[in-house]
Amino acid sequence: MKQEVEYNGMAFEPFISNAEIEERIDALAKTITKDYKDKRPLFLCVLTGAFPFASDLFRKCEDINAEIAFIRLKSYEGTATSGKVKEVLGLDADIEGRDVIVVEDIVDTGRTIAGLLDTLRARNAANVRVATLLFKPDALKIDFKPDYTGFEIPSRFIVGFGLDIDGQGRNLNDIYVLKNK
Ligand code: IMP
Ligand code: MG
Repeated sequence: MKQEVEYNGMAFEPFISNAEIEERIDALAKTITKDYKDKRPLFLCVLTGAFPFASDLFRKCEDINAEIAFIRLKSYEGTATSGKVKEVLGLDADIEGRDVIVVEDIVDTGRTIAGLLDTLRARNAANVRVATLLFKPDALKIDFKPDYTGFEIPSRFIVGFGLDIDGQGRNLNDIYVLKNK
C-alpha cells in the first residue's frame, strides 16, 4: 500500500487495504453462494467502477451456476430539472424472470441504484438484489438498503479498487481517502 497518492493536486491517504477488501469479498461470496445455492443468478456489473469488485466476487462464487452481464449508466447533471436523470445504456441481457444481483462499487446518495432498480423491475426480473462494495449510509437520500455490503464508510471521498476521480485511480489495489486539510 502506498503512503499517499495524488490526483489533480489532491492528496489521498490509505483507507482500506487490498487484504481487507479480499477478505470481505470472500465473506460476501460465501453468503451469496448459500443464498443462491439452487438458482442461476445473473450478476449485473455496473460499469465502470464495479468491474474489479465484480471480477473478484463473481469468481469467488464458483460453486454456483452463475452468469455475468454488464451495463453502463449515464447521468445527466446540471439540467433544469432535478439533475438526477439516469439513462441505462447497453443492457443486452434478457433479464425477464431472472434472479439478478446488481454489482455496484458504491452507494452514495442512492439515486443511481434507485434508477437502475426501476429499470430492472420494468424489465420483469424475477428478483433483484444489490451487492455493493461500499456504502455511505449518511449520504443516502432515498429509502434503500443494499442486500450485500462490503464496507459501510463515512461520507468522505475515496479512490481505488475501481473508484475514480475524473477517471484516475481505478487501478489502485487498495482504497484511499481524501485527506482532511
Ligand atoms: P449515487 O450518489 O449513489 O447515485 O452514486 C453515484 C456515483 O457516484 C457512484 O456510482 C460513484 O461512481 C460515484 N461516487 C460516489 N461516491 C464516490 C467516492 O467517494 N469516490 C468515487 N466515486 C464516488
Ligand atoms: Mg458507479
